[in-house]
Amino acid sequence: MMTSAAIRQQFLDFFKSKGHIIVPSAPVVIKNDPTLLFTNAGMNQFKDYFLGNKPAPNPRVADTQKCLRVSGKHNDLEEVGVDTYHHTLFEMLGNWSFGDYFKKEAIAWSWELLTDVYKLDKDRLYVTIFEGDAKEGLPKDEEAYNEWKKVIAEDRILLGNKKDNFWEMGDTGPCGPCTEIHVDCRTDEERKTVDGKTLVNNDHPQVIEIWNNVFMEFNRIWSTGKGGASELKKWEETNAELVLSTEKEKQDEYKKGRADKHRELTSLSPLPNKHVDTGMGFERLVRVIQKKTSNYDTDVFTETIAATEKITGKTYDFSDSKQAVSFRVIADHIRAISFTITDGQLPSNTGAGYVIRRILRRAVRYYYSYLDFKQPLLHQLLPVIAKQFENVFPELNQQLDFVSKVIKEEEEAFLRTLSNGLKTIDEVMKQSQQTKTISGTAAFELLDTFGFPIDLTRLIASENNLAVDEVGFNAEMNQQKNRSRAATALETQDWVTVNDIPNSKFVGYDSLETKSKVIKYRKVSGKGKELYQIVLDTTPFYAESGGQVGDAGTLTILSGAEGHDSPLTIIDTKKENDLIIHFAETIPADLNGEVIAKVDATRRKNITVHHSVTHLMHAALRNVLGTHVAQKGSLVNEEHLRFDFSHFAKMTDEEISAVEKLVNEKIRQNIPVVIKEMKKDEAVALGAMALFGEKYGDVVRVVIMDPAYSIELCGGTHVGSTGELGLFKIKSEGAVAAGVRRIEAVCGKAAEDLINSTFLEIGVISGLLKNPKDISKSIENLQTENVSLKKHIEALEARQLVIIRNELLQKDEIINNVTFIGAIVEVSSADALKKLCFDLKNKLHDHVAVLCANIDGKPFVAVGISDTVVAAKSLDAGKIIKEHIAPLIKGGGGGQKNLATAGGQDISNLKAVIEKVKSLL
Ligand code: SER
Repeated sequence: MMTSAAIRQQFLDFFKSKGHIIVPSAPVVIKNDPTLLFTNAGMNQFKDYFLGNKPAPNPRVADTQKCLRVSGKHNDLEEVGVDTYHHTLFEMLGNWSFGDYFKKEAIAWSWELLTDVYKLDKDRLYVTIFEGDAKEGLPKDEEAYNEWKKVIAEDRILLGNKKDNFWEMGDTGPCGPCTEIHVDCRTDEERKTVDGKTLVNNDHPQVIEIWNNVFMEFNRIWSTGKGGASELKKWEETNAELVLSTEKEKQDEYKKGRADKHRELTSLSPLPNKHVDTGMGFERLVRVIQKKTSNYDTDVFTETIAATEKITGKTYDFSDSKQAVSFRVIADHIRAISFTITDGQLPSNTGAGYVIRRILRRAVRYYYSYLDFKQPLLHQLLPVIAKQFENVFPELNQQLDFVSKVIKEEEEAFLRTLSNGLKTIDEVMKQSQQTKTISGTAAFELLDTFGFPIDLTRLIASENNLAVDEVGFNAEMNQQKNRSRAATALETQDWVTVNDIPNSKFVGYDSLETKSKVIKYRKVSGKGKELYQIVLDTTPFYAESGGQVGDAGTLTILSGAEGHDSPLTIIDTKKENDLIIHFAETIPADLNGEVIAKVDATRRKNITVHHSVTHLMHAALRNVLGTHVAQKGSLVNEEHLRFDFSHFAKMTDEEISAVEKLVNEKIRQNIPVVIKEMKKDEAVALGAMALFGEKYGDVVRVVIMDPAYSIELCGGTHVGSTGELGLFKIKSEGAVAAGVRRIEAVCGKAAEDLINSTFLEIGVISGLLKNPKDISKSIENLQTENVSLKKHIEALEARQLVIIRNELLQKDEIINNVTFIGAIVEVSSADALKKLCFDLKNKLHDHVAVLCANIDGKPFVAVGISDTVVAAKSLDAGKIIKEHIAPLIKGGGGGQKNLATAGGQDISNLKAVIEKVKSLL
């Protein structure tokens, strides 16, 4: 049997022989793209080449790409494990032509690979081509049809509609007609009874698509003036009930309605060049070649399943039983969880992090309920996965300890609430039998109290033939989020083009000021204010990325002969994919003409030093703590740096000092900072720390501060030599998540400010202490003196209290057979007052005492009543305090029936307090 590793290699070798360059997979976690959380197709990392935003370094490329389809347009989560051929994370084998070959070669090569190299049975293959779409004005793909005719019988070429045969990355972006290759894996008997072509694209588990060849010709864009994404969102919100319905018809109605709306709001614009984008499901291909009926029976998954059997003592039996589904879910989900964490995304409660948490919790619930395993399990499978992929995706093996630790802690956290959550949902389901629906409120409480993601509640409900009121659930969620939502919701208008210039260029590594032109701008409103986003053709402004905040500065519009307009303030700069966007609070009416773009140089310098020192510190941490230290997050701004890294223990004071010392030594050595562009492989060979989770093109920017000390791939701005960093100082070190520590530190001017303010504070303290030689000794003396004085006072006051008590005992009155004592006394604390009241209680029978004191200008009152009087006269000290005394002293208090106290603000009524209590007798 050909192994999966050999199958993957043959794919890459085949396309290499056809002139393709083999590139590594991009990270599965995507940064800097608001439209996509995870890589969901091999082409994502090449989007800019298709759109013509960037020239492709090589016209022919092939790879295997980690993809995740659990959110957004492509979402398969609910199928996973229940069927045998959908996955959360899967490998997509792909070959690309960037403006090079097109349909002829792509079709011929895919046929050659499948039938000559992999030797698939031609009788079992079907292909589909795009039938055209009148509403979009798109013709049938005759060219693909004609190419296929050359190699496959015409009755095996099927026509497909826009849904199946026109591939789009998302609501906007590159797209085009596609041709798919399907395999019929049924037995010969079955094939005789039912014609395979009737089963293509019909969800038959044995007649499956394995390869999609997309012919990219268009870019889908929002049509101007139609409201774009916000209109579509409005439509979705209005029709939310349809999509959340459990009835398939309603969901279909939603899909159709949304597609119509989407078409109405968008248009297709031809791409500058034509491209090929292909994607073959690796796990499915292996299954076909290894002649299995389920992806999970291939060597891609069998080792993980065997390890799960060993740990749980249960057996996988290939059936549809819940136990079998659990094995499949675990074998699938562990890959998604481990590779997303490896690529830099920790589980969390929002965004991409929440997707990972949801997948993890789904897996935990399966092993808990159906494998009867109540301990963390997933993290134990990591060594198997890391070994399996060590030559394909080595990044997991390199971070094995860290990733295991994160997963284990996530599992433990969910296992703590899971059993109570399951009990609660059982109760909820019993109560929901009449309506057959779990209410939105109950679903929300399951999330809020037990951390049950909605898809877990939906899954458990469906296992029990119940639905979930998701409309109600969303309403609850919205209510909870309303305030923060209102604060963050942004309305984005369409771009307004000012100058039709295709590309914008960043020149801010070398200059901080440049002449430029505005390409386009748009208005964004929300959070009670309006902002403008501006794109320039040339800009020195660094856009926030790699942890470094965006530049601020000014834009001055040159209005021809009349000279300068007043400059426009740029408050921030961010990136959307490769588009650099400048933010301004106002813009002038006319943005035509030349502009001078100028970065706030002082601010940039203060940011830059913190970025450079982050590199020195990262290397120092690896020196002092060990090479397991890897960057997990970073923020660099003008005030400080914040650096998150993998490490398991609190850093000791010695370790912190050692890091500071090493960094400061490197600063004093005034090492020249060398920045080079080179091939990523060369950089890694040089020893560069490849920061997983960062997306790099083939050519990377390498920042070197002494080749023997620090080499990092980095797109940020840096100083010329390390001496410019001045001084480095760590301000704090602490934990942020499982196995992740955070350091905050400063250098340059910020370090100088910190040292100055610290010295100033010490100066003030020293002055207060009358400038002693040894400040700490002097403080220690004060502390010792303070302790002994306190003791002394306590002893004196104890004696004083006895005297006062005895005086009070002389001043008693008898009212209605009860001894009454009411007095204003001099004591130093509320405690002393209470103690006095208590002492009187011990000395007197049948009494009521009310004691008041003025302590540092504030009134305090204590009321004591003998238990006998409490019973006989129905008096209650707590009530008296609350109802009668608190209002008089403008304060509050409480206590027991026989002893209660109060404190307040108004000192003028203490006599009235005594009279009041007396009157109650
Ligand atoms: N982009 C296409 C897909 O994801 C082909 O790679 O199916």
